[in-house]
Amino acid sequence: MAQAATRTLLIGGNWKCNLTKTEATELANGLKKLNTSKVDVVVSPISLHLDLVSNILKGEDAKDSESNVMVSSQNVSATGTGAYTGEIAPTQLLDSGINWTIIGHSERREYYNETDEIVKTKITNALNAGLNVIACLGETADERKANDTEKVIKRQLEAIVNGVSEESQWKQMVIAYEPVWAIGKNPDGTSRKPCDSAEAQNVCLNYIRVNLPANVKDNVRILYGGSVKPGNAAELIAKADIDGFLVGGASLKANDFGGIIKAAQDSLQ
Ligand code: PGA
Repeated sequence: MAQAATRTLLIGGNWKCNLTKTEATELANGLKKLNTSKVDVVVSPISLHLDLVSNILKGEDAKDSESNVMVSSQNVSATGTGAYTGEIAPTQLLDSGINWTIIGHSERREYYNETDEIVKTKITNALNAGLNVIACLGETADERKANDTEKVIKRQLEAIVNGVSEESQWKQMVIAYEPVWAIGKNPDGTSRKPCDSAEAQNVCLNYIRVNLPANVKDNVRILYGGSVKPGNAAELIAKADIDGFLVGGASLKANDFGGIIKAAQDSLQ
């Protein structure tokens, strides 16, 4: 069982570049009906929908109840405010009531040339501004095949750790282990399988947790991401060093996301 006594389980939903305004509204309303007690829940719509989703979850409508589901950006600028066309600065997210951001997702590393150096800078700026960060790392299929998983994770983790300038900022940090080969769909459209739970536990403990600063390593939440579904969540969350999930595809349906949240809640009993 995960170390629930010290680390509150966190379930993140990464909506990626999906959903219209109408669909995001529907999903956010669906999330309000879920039981999210005993765990932290964060969802991440596209930037354009952050305000919309956060207002629905907060229950802007007076007769509406407030949900404790939090909202995260999928990305944040490596720079501050000013002449940086197309960027959103950490302080601007906070000003809009958005307290979380994902940084270093493999899709940003692969398609938008986000290097370890950029990930590190983004983490430093986000933490200094006061954002909570879900920092992602994970090896590709080729790196795994070449037995380079440990090397790759250590390199990516070093950049993440170096991005944290003060020990107290680790309270704002969550790490997500997302093996790239387990994320999303195969090129032929078939669904991928998640990482075997024992292998994921090994990476989370032996390549990630033990390499975090000694004073904080037992308190930092490490999530697993990659093809998490209601049907496989229980086995993964049962592992001692998996403290929650970052969910892509299955977070786009309130029922599926709810099933994953429930598996996490059930693991606490
Ligand atoms: P997936 O995506 O759940 O669709 O595999 C996970 C992620 O990329 O965060």
